[in-house]
Amino acid sequence: MSPIHSLLFAVAASTVSTLAIPILQPTDVLRLSPDGSFQLSIFSDLHFGEAEDTLWGPLQDVKSARVMNSVLDAENSTGLIVLNGDLITGENTFLHNSTKYLDAVVAPLVHRGMSWASTYGNHDSDFNISRQGIFEQESKYSLSRTKNMVSSSDAGVSNYYLPVYGNDSAVPGFLLWFFDSRGGNYFQQSSSSSKSVPQPNWVAQSVVDWFTETRSALEKKHNRVVPSVAFVHIPVNAMAAFQAQGVDTHREPGINDDNPLAQQGSASGQGDVSGAVFTYNGQDIPFMQALLDTKGLKAVFSGHDHGDDWCFRWDSKLKGMNLTGNGLDLCFDRRSGYGGYGSWTRGSRQVVLRKGKDEVQTWVRLEDGSISGKVTLNGTYGQDSYPSVKA
Ligand SMILES: *[C@@H]1O[C@H](CO)[C@@H](O)[C@H](O)[C@H]1NC(C)=O
Ligand SMILES: *[C@@H]1O[C@H](CO)[C@@H](O)[C@H](O)[C@H]1NC(C)=O
Ligand SMILES: *[C@@H]1O[C@H](CO)[C@@H](O)[C@H](O)[C@H]1NC(C)=O
Ligand SMILES: *[C@@H]1O[C@H](CO)[C@@H](O)[C@H](O)[C@H]1NC(C)=O
Ligand SMILES: *[C@@H]1O[C@H](CO)[C@@H](O)[C@H](O)[C@H]1NC(C)=O
Ligand SMILES: *[C@@H]1O[C@H](CO)[C@@H](O)[C@H](O)[C@H]1NC(C)=O
Repeated sequence: MSPIHSLLFAVAASTVSTLAIPILQPTDVLRLSPDGSFQLSIFSDLHFGEAEDTLWGPLQDVKSARVMNSVLDAENSTGLIVLNGDLITGENTFLHNSTKYLDAVVAPLVHRGMSWASTYGNHDSDFNISRQGIFEQESKYSLSRTKNMVSSSDAGVSNYYLPVYGNDSAVPGFLLWFFDSRGGNYFQQSSSSSKSVPQPNWVAQSVVDWFTETRSALEKKHNRVVPSVAFVHIPVNAMAAFQAQGVDTHREPGINDDNPLAQQGSASGQGDVSGAVFTYNGQDIPFMQALLDTKGLKAVFSGHDHGDDWCFRWDSKLKGMNLTGNGLDLCFDRRSGYGGYGSWTRGSRQVVLRKGKDEVQTWVRLEDGSISGKVTLNGTYGQDSYPSVKA
């Protein structure tokens, strides 16, 4: 480890609050709070390891760790951390130690004894880094809940679900679904025309098949529909179609600066590739269909577009799409890291699920301690008026 990284780890450790913090036992299953609620804190687009060959890069990592610490000091009821993709900026890392950045990403969580679950993003795959390698590094930590439940070679890695139990040890109160939207470039692959080979950036058909089969099997096993939420790094086409129709600053409060947003199936070049690498032609339709068909699925959370953090209710046929929404809520996270593009105030989306209540509470905790875009995804979300959000 270089001196600058030793410093980074020391800073991450020293900024940990000394307040009493509940320590999760790593082998425990996830549990609802006694009042039946469960809070998740999402860190999205942390982008550790960016521009490592400069002084600027490692300093961004220090700032990103500070964001995590300040959010976790304020949000002390959190039951699980979700790292929702682009943990590392893979195109800047070296082969010999690219996955070591994962240690810096999770240092603030390890120091608090908090468990986490990841999805991987497009920047987590590149010539010198693989999502499989990040997964192996994560798996060294007993606090990691990240899994790989789909073995097909085209599936990506971070496809799995986690149950959250109340007092009933047989039937979970909630299910959390995690999907790998892939993207970036293949590990150690090059072609005669390019130094890197792009990987498809949508949820693979093999994953959609696993999802629909597993969902049905769980429904049969529990003899009921268990309410759920889902996480996937790259947003689906419905978010782009809705944005094109118009995001309302009061009904869907949030920043909306990445317009048009980048979605699954559409990617411009990164690393050594220049120009468009994928053009959207409906690659995510099977995945969106599966999401709509999932009874009890309340909301899906995505990162990727650093300049957007609104939620919308997909309850109609959107222009340019054949699928018709049925009331599923789709939300952007707030970008948390100092690497990557844009200078919007960093923050973290908070999500509170409550057993027996058909609603999700969510807000963004900003780095400066303030709260932004607090909404209730209940029966009237999309019609309720909220204060607009400052960029
Ligand atoms: C990886 O190696 C590079 C160059 O050898 C070094 O500058 C960097 O700090 C190392 N990163 C980590 C996380 O150890
Ligand atoms: C579980 O049972 C305990 C003891 O009866 C009770 O205090 C608690 O509220 C229950 N938890 C949930 C999530 O229902
Ligand atoms: C948790 O945070 C709330 C407000 O943010 C504060 O009132 C409370 O004292 C904190 N609790 C602990 C155990 O740190
Ligand atoms: C990959 O890492 C090696 C050293 O570990 C470095 O020499 C090379 O430039 C890196 N390649 C890319 C494309 O970043
Ligand atoms: C919608 O369905 C029609 C008829 O099947 C098809 O031609 C068209 O390509 C579809 N459009 C999209 C965006 O999927
Ligand atoms: C949904 O939540 C909003 C904000 O708290 C509230 O104004 C509205 O009345 C709620 N709607 C329902 C159906 O509970």
